[in-house]
Amino acid sequence: MTRMTPTELKQANARSLWHPMAHPKAMQDTPPDIIVRGDGSWIWDVDGHRMVDGVGGLWSANLGFGRREIRDAVVAQMDELPFYNIFRGTTHARAIELSERVVNLMQPDSVSAVFFSNGGSDAVESALKLARQYWKIQGQSDRIKYISLKQGYHGVHFGGMSVNGNTNFRRAYEPLLPGCFHVDTPWLYRNPFTQDLELLGKICAEMLEREIVFQGPDTVAAFIAEPVQGAGGVIVPPSNYWPLIRKVCDKYGVLLIADEVVTGFGRTGHLFGTRMWGVQADMWCLAKGISSGYVPLGATAISTKVADVFSQGDPALASVAHGYTYSAHPVAAAAALATLDILEREDILGNVKQQSDRLMSRLQALGKRSRLIGDVRGVGLMACLEMVADKSTKAAFGRGAKEVAMVARGAYERGAMVRTSGANIILSPALTISGEQIDLLCDALDESFAAVER
Ligand SMILES: Cc1ncc(COP(=O)(O)O)c(C=O)c1O
Repeated sequence: MTRMTPTELKQANARSLWHPMAHPKAMQDTPPDIIVRGDGSWIWDVDGHRMVDGVGGLWSANLGFGRREIRDAVVAQMDELPFYNIFRGTTHARAIELSERVVNLMQPDSVSAVFFSNGGSDAVESALKLARQYWKIQGQSDRIKYISLKQGYHGVHFGGMSVNGNTNFRRAYEPLLPGCFHVDTPWLYRNPFTQDLELLGKICAEMLEREIVFQGPDTVAAFIAEPVQGAGGVIVPPSNYWPLIRKVCDKYGVLLIADEVVTGFGRTGHLFGTRMWGVQADMWCLAKGISSGYVPLGATAISTKVADVFSQGDPALASVAHGYTYSAHPVAAAAALATLDILEREDILGNVKQQSDRLMSRLQALGKRSRLIGDVRGVGLMACLEMVADKSTKAAFGRGAKEVAMVARGAYERGAMVRTSGANIILSPALTISGEQIDLLCDALDESFAAVER
């Protein structure tokens, strides 16, 4: 199906394509893998090499590749209406159907409206802007600040980047949005406070409270966090953390935004990460799994509490002066509707729980065996192997260390695609992955670690 030969593709990639999160020159010296086909959890590269996709596209192809139903919905929508906008005076059927669908799905979370966009960064940007507007409508214009977690990832727009908790993503683009502050993540493996999970949750929730009080509660618009941190290294908070931060936010009237771009639609084994913690947010940022990554789509789900303030607010203040040409693109909405049909019909969450047990027990065993793995963590079908230079001291690798890339390359050669991020090997396969494929993924990692250690 490609217009170029494999060699031409490789050359053209090096010549003309700049990649996200990569140095253009490095992409020439170490060319990226060219993926040309997918089926379920199998992917093939341009040289015909078949692998289990341990990355799930990018935490996104939750239902695996080649789902006929999603493809058919997309094709039918292309024939019927490939595009129309939903700016004020017009709308279209798929946008309406999808909004009702998401609202119904999230009724247990007290969601009553949804604002669509094109991806995770948009969903975050929309939530951050709507949070400020929520306060302005109520005459509290000083509530403009955002608090977020270190190690958090909230996409790449200026708002999301400003609440991001990793300086690597921020430095080249500073100065960022003023009024953004970061507090510690309850990270068991690396924290200076305690190895007692519950105490850690309490300490970190108190840090949020202290920051709100320090900033002045009447200046803080929202706290944003991922129910489980994904890109930051699959950091799973203690079970008391989210209930405690909900209480802190309520105490000071601060909005709670759950960035569920990764955790939404089943990745943790629960439909939404906030449900895993038994907590309701005030807004949820959704993307990736909503359309199984087949077509880009973002959504910001809005609780009744927030929606009521907008609908009862003065139109001069409460009109949403924000939106994207492709908000609720009909083709993306069609893909999402087909995705949600499958998610509701098949026991996807059951498969996540079953395969998660298999994955985590294999990874724990590998972690015990390998001197290069300091920590193994995860929940559902998101997992991380944190590699260390010294297991006993938890010393990190120095700059330029090759081990992490070598493990990933070794896994690739043995038939498993995994992702690296800093010293982390990250796994986020499709939620439909089979037990056999989990085994192949883990076999490839086992062998690759053993080879690198040798
Ligand atoms: C938690 C979280 N928020 C936001 C984003 C940004 O999403 P996108 O890359 O679709 O803009 C991501 C991307 O991985 C994410 O993991």
